[in-house]
Amino acid sequence: MPCKLDEILYLCEKYEVPFIEDAAEALGSTYRGKKLGSFGEMSVISFNGNKIITTSGGGALLSSKENLITKAKFLASQAREDAVHYEHAETGYNYRMSNISAGIGRGQLEVIEERVNQRRANYYFYEERLKNLPGLTFQEETPNSFSNRWLTAILIDPTLSGGTTRGSIRKHLLEENIESRPVWKPMHLQPVFKDAAYFGGNVAEGIFEKGLCLPSGSGLTSNEIERIIHMIRINH
Ligand SMILES: Cc1ncc(COP(=O)(O)O)c(C=O)c1O
Repeated sequence: MPCKLDEILYLCEKYEVPFIEDAAEALGSTYRGKKLGSFGEMSVISFNGNKIITTSGGGALLSSKENLITKAKFLASQAREDAVHYEHAETGYNYRMSNISAGIGRGQLEVIEERVNQRRANYYFYEERLKNLPGLTFQEETPNSFSNRWLTAILIDPTLSGGTTRGSIRKHLLEENIESRPVWKPMHLQPVFKDAAYFGGNVAEGIFEKGLCLPSGSGLTSNEIERIIHMIRINH
């Protein structure tokens, strides 16, 4: 889901902060008609196994600045100097994508539009059939955005739902062998960062407490989504 890019870009420019765009989930989404992954001084897209297209692992680094791409390629291929033998003047990494993985990724790029349509269809199916349940809300597209709807997530507010929680829905779905997951736990709540400074309010915390990611694969059939919707409705 595209974020408030106008505002973020304005602040980055004002305070001279380079904008690094994490578009890991966002291939196929646009903001003001421009593709996500093309806004950052450097941007990243993930091709991990759960993404809208996948190379089983890895991703892509994007930039319109040629010097940054040259440097990234250099570091990703063991920082090899221009010599016939292996010569290293600085430490590099082995972050290249294999030809085979890249071939799989390029093949899937041809069907990205179809995948986006499938994911968006999942979202509208869920939304249409569940939006009237009390306390349950969906994430609307932000102004000027087109979302790939890679993942359909809902918020369940137990004060309005009569006690149904994201945890109770998850449990009922699991009993039917249907996997759903809480939305991502915010970084400031991760034990590894318990001693780190934290700024801001509790918006992310609230979303974590109420948010549930529903099954969203491109290959879901309407019968499967009907079954998931049925399980949510009868347990609400
Ligand atoms: C917003 C965001 N950033 C980064 C990542 C990590 O991507 P990868 O698994 O390719 O390292 C993910 C993965 O889901 C993500 O959703």
